[in-house]
Amino acid sequence: MEREYSSPAKILVVDDDPLVLETMKDLLETEGFQPLLSSRADEGLEIIKREVPELVITDIKMPGTSGLEFIRLIRKISAELPVIIITGFASLESAIEAIHTGAYDYIIKPFEVEKIIAIIHRAIKERRLKEKNKALLHDLQETTRELNKRLEQFSHLDKMSKIICSDFELEEFLYDLLNSTTLAVNAKIGSLMLWDDKEEYLLMKAVKGWNQALGETLRIKKGEGIPGLAVEKARIISHEDMEREGFNLGKIDREIYQSPHFISIPIYGKNRVWGVLNLSGWEEKISFTEVDLRLLSILVSQAWVALENSKLHGELQNSYLHTLQVLASAIEAKCRYTRGHSERVTRYAVKFAQKLKLSEKEIKKIEFACGVHDIGKINISETILNKPASLDPEEWMIMREHPNKGVEILVPLGILKELIPLVKYHHEHFDGKGYPEGLMGKAIPWEARIISLMDAYDAMTSTRPYRMKMDKETALREIEKCLGKQFDPELGEIFLAHHPALGVVEE
Ligand SMILES: [Fe+2]
Repeated sequence: MEREYSSPAKILVVDDDPLVLETMKDLLETEGFQPLLSSRADEGLEIIKREVPELVITDIKMPGTSGLEFIRLIRKISAELPVIIITGFASLESAIEAIHTGAYDYIIKPFEVEKIIAIIHRAIKERRLKEKNKALLHDLQETTRELNKRLEQFSHLDKMSKIICSDFELEEFLYDLLNSTTLAVNAKIGSLMLWDDKEEYLLMKAVKGWNQALGETLRIKKGEGIPGLAVEKARIISHEDMEREGFNLGKIDREIYQSPHFISIPIYGKNRVWGVLNLSGWEEKISFTEVDLRLLSILVSQAWVALENSKLHGELQNSYLHTLQVLASAIEAKCRYTRGHSERVTRYAVKFAQKLKLSEKEIKKIEFACGVHDIGKINISETILNKPASLDPEEWMIMREHPNKGVEILVPLGILKELIPLVKYHHEHFDGKGYPEGLMGKAIPWEARIISLMDAYDAMTSTRPYRMKMDKETALREIEKCLGKQFDPELGEIFLAHHPALGVVEE
């Protein structure tokens, strides 16, 4: 018999016959186990407490405490410790009774060595497997508890995110800021530019008193023109400095200021420059007092706070999405049939979206939605998820609730508004026979129609508790049959035409 244990298992043998003890000792040692021997039940119990063996082998007939009584006492210490009974033919009946009281198996004297060895190995393997499963289950419960806790924390954080600007609100806020700053110092022209870290240039975010379309095309590098210089030097620069330092205005400066009188104030915070505010258009030359500059600095610092919040908002969103995705895969991992499902649906959908030449923003949206599309299954019991047969009507009702349950998780968080329709409608059918609302055709968001295709393709090509997996060609033919019924015919045609390039046929 091969020895395949990571550590030798301790096995306690209790028998009043020294010859049996000796035989069992030799046998167990040969098999790579660590034998613990005792001739009395009371001493055996002490050994169990002290040495924590993985198996007990005991004679059923012993002077003093009997084998049956011994098992009952063992159960008080450990409910799961397997006990094998040694019995003679004469007491076979009580051995069977012992099985009823929780003994693992019995060995009949005289010993058949092969049989004993097989029973012992089976008992140890089962015991170790049970322990491993218990540890895994415990880990999974811990992970789910931890994720639920984090989910709750994020819902508290959401209250804070209400005061954080979304991208759209940020632009509006920057325009309001520019407007109030120009009014405060009577400037007719103004612009607010932000530093783009990725592209490494200043990008116009708000303008007042000049051509918006022209502003949007402007890209200024650090050190380029006066605004670029203000950012590079991280200091205020005005027409007074220019005169003092003998500089002339360049082409970019004339475009931005449209007048010889101007001031550029860098937006500065946490040791980095975020952008620059340019004010100009005074009819006559003005001198900036200390008070003017202070006022401008205070106004500009608000821009920095808004930007910091906006960055925090983005980080929050990413971090929250990440948590949800981890949670979604933890839910899927609970059921071996769905393990990796969301990940594969995401991979297919992203490739498909790229094929459709969607914008990066749209692709991200689909990617995020795929990662959490089945998040509502968190409330569905494992019995239903793993059921090896078709669901009964009541179970099916519960299963059909998962898109709405997913929405219930996402809605309170507010920051993921755009993902909600995609999660909610990923089981709608083009012919209106899907759920939860029975939406039809183009009333179903088109991104949800994409997810529905990929979701169904992956479900068909994966083994489910109630059926074997389909091969890829059969699944594609099935999709073809369902065009216009379950699936959007236009998107479905594209999918079928390009599936090899989408990587859905690779293993
Ligand atoms: Fe689903």
